[in-house]
Amino acid sequence: GGAKHPRDGGFSFNGPFGTFDQGQLQRGYKVYREVCSSCHGMDHVHFRNLGDKHGPFWNPAYPNPNDNPVVKALAKEIQVADIDSETGESLMRDATTADKFPNPYPNATAAAAGNGGAAPPDLSVMAKARHDGANYIYSLLSGYVAPPKGLKIAPGQNYNPYMSGDLTPFWEGKGPAPKGGFIAMPPQLTNGQVTYDDGTEATVDQMAKDVAAFIMWTSEPKMVERKQAGFGVLIFLLMFAGITYASYRKIWKGVA
Ligand code: HEM
Repeated sequence: GGAKHPRDGGFSFNGPFGTFDQGQLQRGYKVYREVCSSCHGMDHVHFRNLGDKHGPFWNPAYPNPNDNPVVKALAKEIQVADIDSETGESLMRDATTADKFPNPYPNATAAAAGNGGAAPPDLSVMAKARHDGANYIYSLLSGYVAPPKGLKIAPGQNYNPYMSGDLTPFWEGKGPAPKGGFIAMPPQLTNGQVTYDDGTEATVDQMAKDVAAFIMWTSEPKMVERKQAGFGVLIFLLMFAGITYASYRKIWKGVA
């Protein structure tokens, strides 16, 4: 039982001083947009966020991301549903930086109906919703393997060693049931599926890592600030402790 321990994606944001790799976030956005967004929404993300500080398309020349031409162009590529303010009719229009990422389905019922009963979860905070989130998403997406012989697979389900679950009831093979679980999402990535703008080779492993990093950023866009503030607090506390000690020594100097 249990899931396989995730593999390490070697991410730049690990550790107390880790930061996002902007090129990786840009590649990850491309994978999300071209592969994942047909099933998964990201309700917490607006197009303008792509140009926020430490974000994928952050450019210091545009402190206000709504002015960032790259972000504007990326929004414009996507159609969003709206209502004509004059006629009240539903329409589709180009997104602007002020729009949220659109949802692929109108509601959870439609999302479940479109996927054999399992609604694709919102990915905005998925890296925080799962333990060891970025490594998990990376491992899950690049970790599909043929099911071990003796595993009964229900229709519409796929075996993945990194998915949590208990396969004992489905196990007819020798020895203990294999690690992993069933997931309604079929494998999504194939080599060369996207064309990266920076020339990086789009292997399954690379795309899985990049989209996992992108989801880590959407899950915690202020991570870099948090780490920097934490370090500042530590420095402050160290200096404060030093000053306190020095003044203690001075005040008590000569007191027997
Ligand atoms: C579930 C990521 C593409 C359908 C999930 C989960 C993640 C994920 C992290 C949650 C697994 C868990 O519960 O721990 C991604 C990423 C994609 C992608 C990063 C793009 C690279 C797609 C696509 C579809 C899809 C294109 C539809 C064709 C589903 C469904 C589930 C799911 C139905 C629910 C599975 C279940 O609960 O058994 N996905 N996904 N995903 N995804 Fe995707």
